Amino acid sequence: MKLFTYVASVLLSPAVGAQSEFAVRTSSGTYTGFINSTTPHVNQWLGIPYGQPPIGSLRFRPPLKAPDYGATEAKSYKPICIQDSGDKTGVFWEAVPEFQNTDPQSEDCLYLNIWAPRKPVEEKVPVIIWVCGGAFREGGGHAPYQVPDHWIQRTQTHIVVTFNYRLNVFGFPGLPVGNRNAGLMDIRLVVEWLRDNIQGFGGDPERMVLYGQSAGSGAVLAYGYANAEDPIVSGLIASSSGAGDAYSANSTLFHDLAQSANCANLTQTKELECMQNVDARELQRLVLKINPDPTRALFTPLADNFTLFENMTDRLVRGLVAKVPLITGLTYNEGMAFSTFHADDTSPPSEPVPEIGSMLACGAIREAKIRAQYGLRSYSYLYSGNFTNITPRYWLGGMHSSDIPLVFGTHNLFRGNSTNLEWQTSFAMEAFWVSFASNSSVDPRNHLGQTWPRYTVDNPEIIVFGNATMPSASTVADVSLAEQYAGPC
Ligand SMILES: *[C@@H]1O[C@H](CO)[C@@H](O)[C@H](O)[C@H]1NC(C)=O
Ligand SMILES: *[C@@H]1O[C@H](CO)[C@@H](O)[C@H](O)[C@H]1NC(C)=O
Ligand SMILES: *[C@@H]1O[C@H](CO)[C@@H](O)[C@H](O)[C@H]1NC(C)=O
Ligand SMILES: *[C@@H]1O[C@H](CO)[C@@H](O)[C@H](O)[C@H]1NC(C)=O
Ligand SMILES: *[C@@H]1O[C@H](CO)[C@@H](O)[C@H](O)[C@H]1NC(C)=O
Ligand SMILES: *[C@@H]1O[C@H](CO)[C@@H](O)[C@H](O)[C@H]1NC(C)=O
Ligand SMILES: *[C@@H]1O[C@H](CO)[C@@H](O)[C@H](O)[C@H]1NC(C)=O
Ligand SMILES: *[C@@H]1O[C@H](CO)[C@@H](O)[C@H](O)[C@H]1NC(C)=O
Ligand SMILES: *[C@@H]1O[C@H](CO)[C@@H](O)[C@H](O)[C@H]1NC(C)=O
Repeated sequence: MKLFTYVASVLLSPAVGAQSEFAVRTSSGTYTGFINSTTPHVNQWLGIPYGQPPIGSLRFRPPLKAPDYGATEAKSYKPICIQDSGDKTGVFWEAVPEFQNTDPQSEDCLYLNIWAPRKPVEEKVPVIIWVCGGAFREGGGHAPYQVPDHWIQRTQTHIVVTFNYRLNVFGFPGLPVGNRNAGLMDIRLVVEWLRDNIQGFGGDPERMVLYGQSAGSGAVLAYGYANAEDPIVSGLIASSSGAGDAYSANSTLFHDLAQSANCANLTQTKELECMQNVDARELQRLVLKINPDPTRALFTPLADNFTLFENMTDRLVRGLVAKVPLITGLTYNEGMAFSTFHADDTSPPSEPVPEIGSMLACGAIREAKIRAQYGLRSYSYLYSGNFTNITPRYWLGGMHSSDIPLVFGTHNLFRGNSTNLEWQTSFAMEAFWVSFASNSSVDPRNHLGQTWPRYTVDNPEIIVFGNATMPSASTVADVSLAEQYAGPC
């Protein structure tokens, strides 16, 4: 009884018990995390700043390290970056909104979230750093399908980190000179922050991998080309997009926006200063106003030969790329996610599948091919799952993004439980991902002991996930199957 009273009083006293257990000292302060009773074997720290608020004279500029803010609680999400989600229609808003972040938005948004096992299988566990997608115009570290707590609760094998990076004009202003892609530099700062601090959370800084999808995949690949010397991470996972060689090096967009923001007729320096003083929401409104095609982002990454290169093949040829292995892959029905969609649609769209799907799929295949050609190690997959709780219209099938909930272990949380094949596919993908993070110098293995074959010029083999007609939830096949679904590349 006495012991019980003692334990209870320690646990109930926020000043002693809770704080000492969950308080972690980092370069940006001491952060006290918590446990959510929905996943009792997971420690969580939400909303830790990794950079200074990128506001005022820091707007559009490379991020600066966060200073030491002292002792703070890290028990709730911070705002996501201010963003442009267009008219909020389409599959990702009307059919499966769990891919979206609906948190409050702010220009002060450089925060990350950490989930770690309470009973880790090793003293220091590997770390998966998630780079969200969203066409560089939307997204953040807290979409319901991209919260990893159930995955870690089940396996206790690894840490997952999610974060916000600057988007749209705030992250990709297309400045006429200098380092143009503040949003990509935010990602690098996250990795540096984790290198310096993840050990305090039980993570191994020597075993961290960057995993991104869609725009996040482009960012992950760009990271590899931009950080040839000191990538910090030991592997890259790039789902459903290539690096893209088509980033235009010339844009007058920033200047055009300045005209509409009452920052006209100024020198370059004065124009930048003037634009740093425009109210953030007003700037966002003006971006929407000058955008002739609301289905597309206007401000996206531009080559600066520093964070992003005009010709990434040329980087490969010259060996100017991080020498770490890569997992790349695509879903079999990428493009369908971009068709017009309305919540009450009961039959498939009549227009042809948008070409962007093929562009993304081909980019992923191309990356595996050129790397194989230049002797870099990579592994490739085709996601063939067609599961109705993730894609609740029969024609959507394995659309863009539909593989993410399988990796995050969130597939069963919305619209009903998953099928047996779906669970098995999820277990296989999760195990391969953790294996890759755990030791990227060997071929990844899954929980059943299956090895993922390297993708080589002579043996262009891939793994097919979640195909109901194949022998297993993960089956080796030739890349030609992926090419058949990617369309003409
Ligand atoms: C705990 O998790 C549940 C389910 O994911 C969520 O609804 C709730 O907001 C979480 N609580 C906290 C304090 O984060
Ligand atoms: C950049 O675009 C401007 C305006 O469209 C044009 O005048 C200029 O020649 C372009 N510069 C290059 C290097 O293409
Ligand atoms: C910029 O200069 C042009 C031509 O000199 C002039 O017509 C326009 O009013 C000026 N705009 C502003 C905002 O000062
Ligand atoms: C980047 O480098 C390429 C080739 O070296 C060059 O043609 C291009 O102008 C450069 N672009 C920028 C924005 O510096
Ligand atoms: C990119 O670089 C490769 C290798 O140097 C070269 O063969 C190719 O022509 C370049 N592509 C463009 C568009 O310049
Ligand atoms: C599933 O596998 C069968 C062969 O067993 C193949 O014909 C079919 O194209 C595959 N479908 C997808 C989406 O991978
Ligand atoms: C998904 O599976 C359903 C049957 O469950 C089938 O009718 C549909 O054609 C499949 N969708 C795609 C895009 O393959
Ligand atoms: C969900 O489905 C799996 C596999 O079919 C099954 O083992 C599990 O018990 C189901 N869970 C719930 C809550 O129904
Ligand atoms: C990875 O595996 C190789 C081969 O088994 C081993 O030599 C190496 O020490 C392992 N690396 C780590 C970081 O565990």
